[in-house]
Amino acid sequence: MMVSDQDYQLFLFALKNSSRYDFSQYSEKSLKRRILKVLTDYSLNITALVTRMKSEADFVERIIKDITVNTTELFRDPQVWQTIRFTILPRFKNNSVINIWHAGCSTGQEVYSMLILLNEMGMLDKARVYATDINTDVMDIARQGEYKYRFNLAYLDNFDKVIKENPYNYEEYNDVPYDKYLMLDKANDTIKMLPFLREKPVFKKHDLVTENNTLYVKFDLILCRNVIIYFNYNLQCRVFDLFHQNLYDTGCLVMGMHETILGAHASKFQKKGHAYFKN
Ligand SMILES: C[S@@+](CC[C@H](N)C(=O)[O-])C[C@H]1O[C@@H](n2cnc3c(N)ncnc32)[C@H](O)[C@@H]1O
Repeated sequence: MMVSDQDYQLFLFALKNSSRYDFSQYSEKSLKRRILKVLTDYSLNITALVTRMKSEADFVERIIKDITVNTTELFRDPQVWQTIRFTILPRFKNNSVINIWHAGCSTGQEVYSMLILLNEMGMLDKARVYATDINTDVMDIARQGEYKYRFNLAYLDNFDKVIKENPYNYEEYNDVPYDKYLMLDKANDTIKMLPFLREKPVFKKHDLVTENNTLYVKFDLILCRNVIIYFNYNLQCRVFDLFHQNLYDTGCLVMGMHETILGAHASKFQKKGHAYFKN
């Protein structure tokens, strides 16, 4: 089965007309795949899907949540976190306040990775951490800070690589115990972030397509990782403008391993490894 161009247009039109969401600038290929998944999961054809979307506001919200891809991990792509640890955060060490925005935070693992790292670097108290996503269900999980244990053993390997080891000096090893940050409950199959981490971030619903900076502060650091891969070029440019305008002059943007700034916006940032410093 395939989602035809006509079905795709019907879906986008129904979404735009029955909600404040606009997915017309998402990357077509991946969005078509997600629409197909929704059609299969709900056993609907496109006509039945758009009919329900037009008549049930709650159903549209459900569809938005089904359509977004929420995959994430604690210290996902450890080499990026090593850049954050050794290259980016030290620049803000002498700030009295550090404002950080996780745009597209999903279920929160990225946010907790940052909080753990900030604490290890003695910078947690002066950090203000904001985390946003279009999908409120994933943010509810993020607020709870509780994840499956067995399914996520890679989290502990990543923790070791970023927090315990130093890739620039193999002799250095910081034996930071997991329980400084995580409650590991093997019997109940859970990993839970300790309360001092869970209390720290401000979570807020935010749509990168339609909204500007609704956090009303400027940022030293913005992480927007594995989000713009789902956007087309025009929408990526809008997001780069939004981030550029809301970073301090010394600010830095971090994106996913396979995401880069292309076109005119590339000259507005200076790329250093995984970091884009504002020009
Ligand atoms: C693949 S996850 C990335 C999570 C995390 N940043 C990471 O790299 O592990 C992408 C997230 O972007 C969110 N997202 C998609 N479209 C968005 C939009 N228009 N505004 C805000 N968040 C959006 C999704 O809901 C999803 O949680």
